[in-house]
Amino acid sequence: MGYNAPLLPPAPALCRGTAMQPKQLRKSNTVERMIDLHCHLLPGIDDGPETLEESLELCRIAVADGITLAIVTPHIHPGRWENNRISISEACSALQRALELHDIPLRLGFAGEVRLTDRIMQQVADDDIPFYGSVDGYKVMLLEFPHSHLIPGGEKLARWLLEQGIRPLIAHPERNKQIMKDVSQLLPFIEAGCWLQVTAGSVMGNFGEKSRIIAHQLLQSDMVTVLASDGHNDRVRPPVLRQTFDYIASQYGEKRAQRLMLETPAAIIQS
Ligand SMILES: [Fe+2]
Repeated sequence: MGYNAPLLPPAPALCRGTAMQPKQLRKSNTVERMIDLHCHLLPGIDDGPETLEESLELCRIAVADGITLAIVTPHIHPGRWENNRISISEACSALQRALELHDIPLRLGFAGEVRLTDRIMQQVADDDIPFYGSVDGYKVMLLEFPHSHLIPGGEKLARWLLEQGIRPLIAHPERNKQIMKDVSQLLPFIEAGCWLQVTAGSVMGNFGEKSRIIAHQLLQSDMVTVLASDGHNDRVRPPVLRQTFDYIASQYGEKRAQRLMLETPAAIIQS
């Protein structure tokens, strides 16, 4: 591969050496079984593919890249994307049936990318949120901050979720503008027990230099729990992991690549 951007020194505020990961990992020896824990492949229910044909094409791209299991995570964002556990489950089953009809060997699971809002307590109470699985006694939830800022009281809501036995896996923190300015703003969330999902493309600089810097600072501080594609389309955000897998293996070691894209995702979805 032709990408040789320099690595960066870790951010001082993050030099804690804490690997935020499940206690039990599933061992795997092959790159052919990558698991994508965050992607938007279901047609017409968020800002991912609009049609079934587009969905199938994205699934073909994922399979060609070496992904065998994709956990679809449609946006759950009150007022914008009104998805919930039941609607996502039905849409996921329909796409799985279509994959079988078209002989596309991709297994699907589902969770949801839950926007952090003041509605989250009610969503939990109503059992509206699809979780990944239960790990170390906590149900794992993909939690999305607004892109431009951190909401006041967000850390309190994260602590409340943990008190309910729900562990937030924070989606792509390296792309949040406030965190890009000051990565130490993540520390209260990490100290509360949140895990971090970094976008594979951020590691390669696909979301700009600032996101790349933060992604590597988090990697070098061993703060990243999983890498995932956040795939939405076949242009700027495809559902692929392999290039980043190879890059992580070359820069951080094969074991780290396996942990971030195979073993920890497998542990998070087992329940
Ligand atoms: Fe996403």
